[in-house]
Amino acid sequence: MAGEVKTITVVGAGTMGHGIAELAAIAGFKVYLADINMDILNNALQRIRWSLEKLAEKGRIRESVETVMSRITPIVSVRDGEYSEDLAKALSESDFMIEAIPEKLELKQQLFAFADKHAKETAILASNTSSLPITEIAAATSRPEKVVGMHFFNPPVLMPLVEVVKGEKTSEETVAATVDLAKKMGKQTVVVKKDVPGFIVNRILGRLMESACLLVERGEYTVVQVDATAKYLLGLPMGVFELADYSGIDVFYYVFEAMSRRGFRSAKCSIFEEKFKAGEYGVKAGKGIYSYPAPNKYVKPNIPREEAKVDPLLLMALPINEAAWLLREDVATREDIDKAVKLGLGWPKGVFEYADEFGLDRVVEALERIKRDFGVDHAEPDPLLKKMVEEGRIGRKAGKGFYEYGEVEEKKMETLLVRVEKPIAWIVLNRPDKLNAISPKMIMELSQALDELEERSDVRAVILTGAGRAFSAGADVTAFAQVTPIDILRFSRKFQELTLKIQFYTKPVIVAIKGYALGGGLELAMSGDIRIASEDAMLGQPEINLGFIPGAGGTQRLARLAGPARAKELIMTGDMIPASDAEKMGIVNRVVPPELLEQEARSLALKLAEKPPIALAAAKYAIDFGLESNIWAGLQLEASLFSVLFSTEDVIEGVTAFLEKRKPKFKGR
Ligand code: COA
Repeated sequence: MAGEVKTITVVGAGTMGHGIAELAAIAGFKVYLADINMDILNNALQRIRWSLEKLAEKGRIRESVETVMSRITPIVSVRDGEYSEDLAKALSESDFMIEAIPEKLELKQQLFAFADKHAKETAILASNTSSLPITEIAAATSRPEKVVGMHFFNPPVLMPLVEVVKGEKTSEETVAATVDLAKKMGKQTVVVKKDVPGFIVNRILGRLMESACLLVERGEYTVVQVDATAKYLLGLPMGVFELADYSGIDVFYYVFEAMSRRGFRSAKCSIFEEKFKAGEYGVKAGKGIYSYPAPNKYVKPNIPREEAKVDPLLLMALPINEAAWLLREDVATREDIDKAVKLGLGWPKGVFEYADEFGLDRVVEALERIKRDFGVDHAEPDPLLKKMVEEGRIGRKAGKGFYEYGEVEEKKMETLLVRVEKPIAWIVLNRPDKLNAISPKMIMELSQALDELEERSDVRAVILTGAGRAFSAGADVTAFAQVTPIDILRFSRKFQELTLKIQFYTKPVIVAIKGYALGGGLELAMSGDIRIASEDAMLGQPEINLGFIPGAGGTQRLARLAGPARAKELIMTGDMIPASDAEKMGIVNRVVPPELLEQEARSLALKLAEKPPIALAAAKYAIDFGLESNIWAGLQLEASLFSVLFSTEDVIEGVTAFLEKRKPKFKGR
């Protein structure tokens, strides 16, 4: 077992091999690093030394560079076309072999046959292959139960994940020992229970790239629009084409070619193929999908946020379908599949978490659309997705999907709908036939609903939106007939109190605006913390046309958001402006296509729900109170709130999690 692993032979000292040897040496193992000649080995040793020095500078290794280097013995593996005595001897001393030679089955089988002959009987023989079947490599040995895949990511020293791959005959003990070794090397692992081409990460990445390509080649989108969507709407660390350039189009080309040779079906896409044939591999060539100043000279491509115009579901539907297949075929567990994309691809959320947020009903629709519009047969929704939709397990909005979210609670009031999807809540203005006109009753109920949600520690963020085609067309004008000034004063004060309650609410309030946000509707919206509007939203303060002025904070908050001159123009003309203008004026934070409004608001609320609640409230107060005082008072308030936060458990959690390189779990204490 790995508990007894002392010596490791790494065969292949290239990009992957040298990094794996470095990791093993850092972890304290005695390492033989083998390759076909001394030049390659010397080069590898130099790269290892350079990398260790970097790690030492950052305080990330405890021992000296020399101590770590002293554990690595280079050996020439081949002499006169035969495997060498030195390699045989190294293997006979080793408890583990990790192979990282070129991706040719025949070569690997020869090496494994040799290793089988010379390695200790108890030794495990692992391959770092990304594209060849472990079962076939294992077939060259008399110990297939001890042959396993150990798929590192490039560069091994920095990438946190290892896919541990079971061949048909690999034993559970071997898997456990390999997982254990990877952990000792500082890596996290996922177990790939069936040896499918591309394992988990490359299959899901393959689908993402396929989708990106289809959207450009058969859809009507540009490369930049697809990449902006991946970055800004899905939150991926890079655009899809940007990533291809960065890692090398040739690398992906070979990986996907090997996968398709083994039966991974994907749509033909000429973008990557043409770049590959032209030798435009990306950053390394100075030219790929994007252009760079010179070969190996990396400058971030220009991918503006405004270009994020693709429905993100169209990018994510095929990866989700692939993940559903992996799960249904029992290739990996739900948790491991999500862990694999987070650690292997740097996604902020697991692929199933995305699915649950989109809603599986919408995922299935998107897949059918891709199948029909782009002519992609294998976009047929996986039976697992269809079954889950039939059973109503469609994700967060149902309280259950791939994960359980607890019951969705829905409460209907006379003028509102309150939905709790822990850890977030929706307050929906619900007089759609009156364009959600704000009546005195609605003001009362809003105040009551906010109070109730404020009490609940399982609600961390609130979204305010409207049912039907509008957010709200304003205060209910019918309530204004035959009223005295004193009645209106009371109405105005009550409405203002409501906006203050929202402004100083202890949880973030996101306002999702579609259609009209007029008069009191806009005033209500402006009291929230962050406003997202759909492209069809129309905003305005039309009170002047009725003979009066805004009475629920409009003259104050609009002037603060857009400046006094713009506020005067809007209030004095009573004109409506489209969402895009409101965004330019700073009245809304951003504008999204109508079909994405709900999704965007939900993702943002979920993101905020993971932040430390007390610090969120402190941020609101420091900004809002500070703005209304002078800068000295504001700064003092900031310093006071800043220091008070250091009495919370959440600060300890935040700092500890950072140091332990894990995601913090804030509790609001
Ligand atoms: N108060 C009360 N009822 C309102 C309302 C308001 N502020 N805004 C819209 N409604 C009602 C309409 O009376 C109509 O009800 P009905 O079907 O019983 O007649 C319903 O909502 C739909 O409105 P409608 O005018 O038919 O829709 P539209 O798409 O043609 O026009 C607006 C939409 C928003 C341009 C128009 O309704 C409007 O100008 N509303 C008043 C906006 C305003 O001045 N707000 C400030 C008040 S302080």
